[in-house]
Amino acid sequence: MNRIIQAAALAATLSISASANALTIEVQADKPGPAINPAMWGIFFEDINFGADGGLYAELVKNRSFEFPDSLKGWSKISPSMAQGRLSIRDDNPFKAANPHYLRIDSEGSAPFGVANEGFRGIGVRKGEAYNFSAQVRRIEGSAALRVELYGSDGTLLDSARIEEFSSDWKQCKAVLHPNDTDAKAKLYVLVDGKGTFDLDVVSLFPQNTWKNRPGGLRADMVQALADLKPGFMRFPGGCIVEGPRLSGRYQWKKTLGPVDERPLLVNRWNFEFLHRPASDYYQSFGVGFFEFFQLCEDIGAQPLPILNCGMACQFNSGELCPIDALAPYIQDALDLIEFANGPVTSDWGAKRAAMGHPEPFNMKMMGVGNEQWGPQYIERYERFSHALKEKHPEIALVAASGPDPGDDRFKFLWSKLRALNSDLVDEHCYAALGWFLANTHRYDTYDRNGPKVFMGEYAAQSVATLSTKNRNNLETAIAEAAYLTGLERNADVVRMASYAPLFAHVDAWQWTPDLIWVNNLAVLPTPNYYVQQLFSRNRGDRVLPTDLKDDVGPTTATDNKPATLFASAARETAGEIILKVVNAARSGTEAAVRIDTTSNVMARAVAIVLTGPSPDAINSFDQPGVVVPVESILQDASTSFHHVFPANSMTVIRFKAQ
Ligand code: AHR
Repeated sequence: MNRIIQAAALAATLSISASANALTIEVQADKPGPAINPAMWGIFFEDINFGADGGLYAELVKNRSFEFPDSLKGWSKISPSMAQGRLSIRDDNPFKAANPHYLRIDSEGSAPFGVANEGFRGIGVRKGEAYNFSAQVRRIEGSAALRVELYGSDGTLLDSARIEEFSSDWKQCKAVLHPNDTDAKAKLYVLVDGKGTFDLDVVSLFPQNTWKNRPGGLRADMVQALADLKPGFMRFPGGCIVEGPRLSGRYQWKKTLGPVDERPLLVNRWNFEFLHRPASDYYQSFGVGFFEFFQLCEDIGAQPLPILNCGMACQFNSGELCPIDALAPYIQDALDLIEFANGPVTSDWGAKRAAMGHPEPFNMKMMGVGNEQWGPQYIERYERFSHALKEKHPEIALVAASGPDPGDDRFKFLWSKLRALNSDLVDEHCYAALGWFLANTHRYDTYDRNGPKVFMGEYAAQSVATLSTKNRNNLETAIAEAAYLTGLERNADVVRMASYAPLFAHVDAWQWTPDLIWVNNLAVLPTPNYYVQQLFSRNRGDRVLPTDLKDDVGPTTATDNKPATLFASAARETAGEIILKVVNAARSGTEAAVRIDTTSNVMARAVAIVLTGPSPDAINSFDQPGVVVPVESILQDASTSFHHVFPANSMTVIRFKAQ
């Protein structure tokens, strides 16, 4: 937990509201209610905003296999004065048939000649760290050497290596680079030094410092940010990515396994989705494939929640449908995925998992059928999936879609059908103005307790408007989300899981904002919204405690002329601690009486963690990452009855010890 104390910010927010009515927060600590799902607060990862390639997948070379349709995208010819030669893209006798293109460099030998890679909006390297260069190389003729050079953004040479041993067949050549400076936008040069002809493929540069130091692994700082959330589950791989603009572009998990150079490249649907944020260099290399997904879940203690295509392409695009009588391969993919994740090593797919180094099952417990589908076409397909999956795997909970809006006719239609089908979990999505979140804290109070459970699979408060490029991850949106999440926690018997969306965004390569975690090539920036997620996840509790918020007049729910600004929920840990969460969305501090109704002895000393900032529009930035961060302090006068001032625009977690 971040403990940076921002005295000025706190002082500015401590002016107390001149509210006429005295507020009371009452927690019935001896009447524990429903159990809270240990996997309640999770994450949703989609390869959007350069979340995977250029993000979580630590590969630093873009278009390393020359498979982009514009084969030299990301590469430029390096032909210093005197240097002469030719570059050509070929596919005869390739290194791997799945990715058949490669680069031929023909150098006349007057000076080093070759190519430079720009990376993903630059190559981020750190002084003091080591970087593994590798490439598949075939010498066609000549006795030249290869020079590998790393240049900083100002043109300074950061390190270089010379490779001299080659074969006339494809052979992996390696070198280790140690940059003498840190640079977020370095470039990698690969040059033929002398007269000769070389074929190059799978040109790669990887930090040795990856998550768990796995070669070819994930960016350590990004995974750490996920691990720090202590996510209960991880939904993957999308999102619209699952659906594809057409079915041919859908996500197919089987194509994401095995050696990375055998995973066929696919254009990322976010490459061209938004004309106002085009990203013509956005492709999926699937370096974070399904094995890596399961492994990551295991690493960070999250339950895997894979989402599979259900025979429908994105309904915002073509809406292409797989005919019902041709659905069998889609359903078989789902059955095979269960076997891949959980099957014994003697099964076909369990054996493949074991061969990848993981004989133990991944213990997958749930699976999503489709992403954000809607309409009767979805129900027809969901029914087929559900029938086949439940017959063979009743132990797997199925997550069904409810469309892109949390209340429109599509949503109502799907809920009524899914209720009738007795589906396990319904995935609700909501990207809305922050007012929606503040006004919907009681949304689930009246949900039918007997029907399907809710998975709030995608949500985010928008500071401007959905799809606006001006949306910011500011304090105000985070506080609105926190208020809403108190409602989810109070209804933890109905709402079993929730995840913010999207998860990651690269500052120089995003398509969608707001996003939970921003990154550049060297650093990770948690947003105020991130800290809200973290406060809920790390202070989850095991049982809901009934919590009432009253003023002198009655319950403080919103009315037309009095919008609620104070929100609360409470939970109890099996180990004994009582956890109170209070969200104050008012522009001034609000004093309330806190009453913990219990026969236990509640210690006067309690831990308080406050998330707030200097103003509602406060944001964190790479220059100032600590503007809105949680601050921990000790309350000395807590006990079962005390008064407390909840700062303006804040979320407060108070942990009481009870004996
Ligand atoms: O999170 C961004 C997109 O929003 C997801 O891909 C999709 O499910 C939703 O429309």
